Amino acid sequence: MRSEGGKRPSDSAVEARYLLMPQQANPYGTAFGGAIVAWIDMVASMAAQKHCGKEVVTAGIDSLTFKEPIQVGDHVVLKACVNYVSRTSMEVGVQVTREEPVSGKSAVATTAHLTFVALGENKRPCPVEPIVPETEDEKRRYENAKVRVKARKELLKQMKREV
Ligand SMILES: CC(C)(COP(=O)(O)OP(=O)(O)OC[C@H]1O[C@@H](n2cnc3c(N)ncnc32)[C@H](O)[C@@H]1OP(=O)(O)O)[C@@H](O)C(=O)NCCC(=O)NCCS
Repeated sequence: MRSEGGKRPSDSAVEARYLLMPQQANPYGTAFGGAIVAWIDMVASMAAQKHCGKEVVTAGIDSLTFKEPIQVGDHVVLKACVNYVSRTSMEVGVQVTREEPVSGKSAVATTAHLTFVALGENKRPCPVEPIVPETEDEKRRYENAKVRVKARKELLKQMKREV
């Protein structure tokens, strides 16, 4: 579905649920960070791709925060949505919640922001249609992401100068 002037974040939001198995754990029986990052990258890329309908690549992952350990046997719920769209790039926010299936207790375990770039048929960055936030939450995420995108671009410029 399209809104006037672009797509809504809810049009491309993605939710996934996994069971944390021993093969995704570290030696202490809690989630191995890299396994969670792989899931985050996966759901976030699907949200970006649903938004733009093109091939997308991960350009960067930042503000990745592990707030709570996830235990083997927990349900892991990932929610991804496009926060902001620039010219060819999209910022996607992901929230990871751990749920204890027996007690029903849940808590936000991890959050992250990822940048995806849309590629055209020549495999070069290509323009993406705008995002139109509608709800109060979507508008807040959009405004916060706008500030982060500006800061990220400044940082990238500075990093390029230093190389
Ligand atoms: C991401 C990539 C396509 C950008 O190519 P590029 O030649 O630097 O492109 P540009 O300089 O024209 O930048 C294109 C957009 O990417 C953004 N971008 C580039 N590098 C970025 C980074 N490290 N973090 C966040 N955004 C980035 C730019 O800000 C720009 O955004 P805008 O068009 O919305 O303003 C290129 O660096 C690449 O292919 N990287 C490897 C991706 C990959 O293999 N990912 C892992 C597996 S999916």
